[in-house]
Amino acid sequence: MEQKMVKNVNNTEKIFAQRMEKHQDELRWLYMELYGNDAMYAELCEQIHDYYLKRSTELKKRDIKKEKNPDWFKEKEMLGMMLYIDNFAGNLKGVEKKLAYLKECNVNCLHLMPFLDTPKGKSDGGYAVADFRKVRPDLGTMKDLARLTEKCHENGMNVCMDFVMNHTSEEHEWAKRARAGEGEYMSRYFFYDNGDIPARYEETVPQVFPTTAPGNFTWLPEIGHYVLTTFYPYQWDLNYRNPRVFNEMMYNFLFLANQGMDIIRIDAVPYIWKELGTSCRNLKEVHTIVRMMRMIAEIVCPSVILLGEVVMEPEKVVPYFGTVEKPECHMLYNVTTMATTWNSIATRDIRLLKKQMDIVSRLPKQYTFLNYLRCHDDIGWGLDFDTMKQWGMEEPSHKRYLNDYFTGKIADSISRGELYNDDPVTQDARFCGTTASMCGIEAAGFEGNAEKMQTAIQEDLMLHAYMLTQSGIPMLYSGDELGQVNDYSYKDDAEKASDSRYLHRGAFLWELADKRKDLSTVQGQLFQMLNRLEQIRRQENVFSQEAEVYTYDVHNDSILGILREYKGERFIALFNFSENEQIAWMQEEGIFRNLVNGEIVEVKDPVLKGYEFVWMKYKA
Ligand code: GLC
Repeated sequence: MEQKMVKNVNNTEKIFAQRMEKHQDELRWLYMELYGNDAMYAELCEQIHDYYLKRSTELKKRDIKKEKNPDWFKEKEMLGMMLYIDNFAGNLKGVEKKLAYLKECNVNCLHLMPFLDTPKGKSDGGYAVADFRKVRPDLGTMKDLARLTEKCHENGMNVCMDFVMNHTSEEHEWAKRARAGEGEYMSRYFFYDNGDIPARYEETVPQVFPTTAPGNFTWLPEIGHYVLTTFYPYQWDLNYRNPRVFNEMMYNFLFLANQGMDIIRIDAVPYIWKELGTSCRNLKEVHTIVRMMRMIAEIVCPSVILLGEVVMEPEKVVPYFGTVEKPECHMLYNVTTMATTWNSIATRDIRLLKKQMDIVSRLPKQYTFLNYLRCHDDIGWGLDFDTMKQWGMEEPSHKRYLNDYFTGKIADSISRGELYNDDPVTQDARFCGTTASMCGIEAAGFEGNAEKMQTAIQEDLMLHAYMLTQSGIPMLYSGDELGQVNDYSYKDDAEKASDSRYLHRGAFLWELADKRKDLSTVQGQLFQMLNRLEQIRRQENVFSQEAEVYTYDVHNDSILGILREYKGERFIALFNFSENEQIAWMQEEGIFRNLVNGEIVEVKDPVLKGYEFVWMKYKA
């Protein structure tokens, strides 16, 4: 018995030593380059070891299993869903009771939206963390969390959570002590006793929330200092020049990983390093820090993957994958594709989307994207305006058109939603609304117009089919599987009223889920068809991440064609982005099988009804 224990300990230490051995030169090099502090580096290594030892045997087994299959998250079987715990099931225990429903939705990757302790009314939807080691009391405890992740794992589900590392809440212990004037804690943030430096920063740093939280600094009269607050005034930016901040945040990261997380979303990562005279976005030190995080994770918890939140243009996003030898994030949001998809809906013109898809499909296959139609945040119009200009479309007027279209101001628009951070200076505005409301389900329901409803359902399904056709992890937003529409009740809540993102963060309506099996209902039609598409994606090998993906020109600017080829199989998908009937002028003839209804079709210039999509595979 004793001998066996000694053997296990030796083995555990051996694994750690091997992983450490692989990374320690580079880790030390990067740490010293950034901090030049031996003592702090030694402390970091000691803690890394400690968190490794504290990691449960079950999770250590999971690490070893996933190390053998490091591409597990790239499999076509992966399907994610993001949800707020309280909206969905009250608390963590409630989510556990609803796992059967999530399984029915084919979900095997559950993104739990921020659930750590956060001050009521000053929480930014949980993105202002007051304690990285405590669950928000009304949602449960750390024990409940660890139990939920365990249950998820038993059910074949991976769990994802946010790691909000750019800032803490002003109620965090460090912030409270800084506000009390303790120098040690003030040095963990950016404090200035006069407005000179803040003013110089403002010259080059853009604003994230120009109307809901203008400016990048907040004046604290009680201590006569300004503090850097890129987001809301109650979210204080952490100063990663201070090695104490980096070390402590890594310990928090490892603590959370040890609760059973499989995916950790690094929130607002481009912002974590600040430099006077720059935009304070995407600086090279950000990449050093992410690379160090990646190595630390590979040493302590190699089953954990990093999802970077980089909501920026493609040139800024891709570097966060790092290089093949020195990878950073495992996965990134396919944000430009998402925004461009909605642009194609408003314009009925797929040219820009086709161009964007060509860019993505030319990237190395090891780059994995998270695909989504929308998330908990607003949609910003980060489109390729240089190309649009060549087609005669100007940025300001086009953005105005998009916002007018999606807020339903344009006569033929079926979308409903609201603007977000409508900036009077730059005249830039972003957009909020659920997928269903953007597709017309809200408008058709309100008018009681059955024909319009069918068109809206078709548009919603076409977009989901398009999302599921792309390589990477598809991430559904909870409620979208049932066509849940906007929730205007946030306006009655003083704490939320000024932030229109709550429009699409409504409580999950279980009465809609009750209708999911009834095909005479909107919910049944959406749920069942989505389910069918998800099953097809799982079964058909052409959806493999290894497949070659191309856009397919059908000489019609309203129809997007995608070709996937894998091991001799040929799959073509067509998506009609207009409400009118359109012809796809195909470049080939042949017999295909429609994967959705099983029909055998001859591909000869097919006619697609408004918002129709086709998934078909070549029949040899
Ligand atoms: C991320 C989150 C967003 C939040 C911000 C600040 O962008 O997605 O919801 O407001 O970070 O933490």
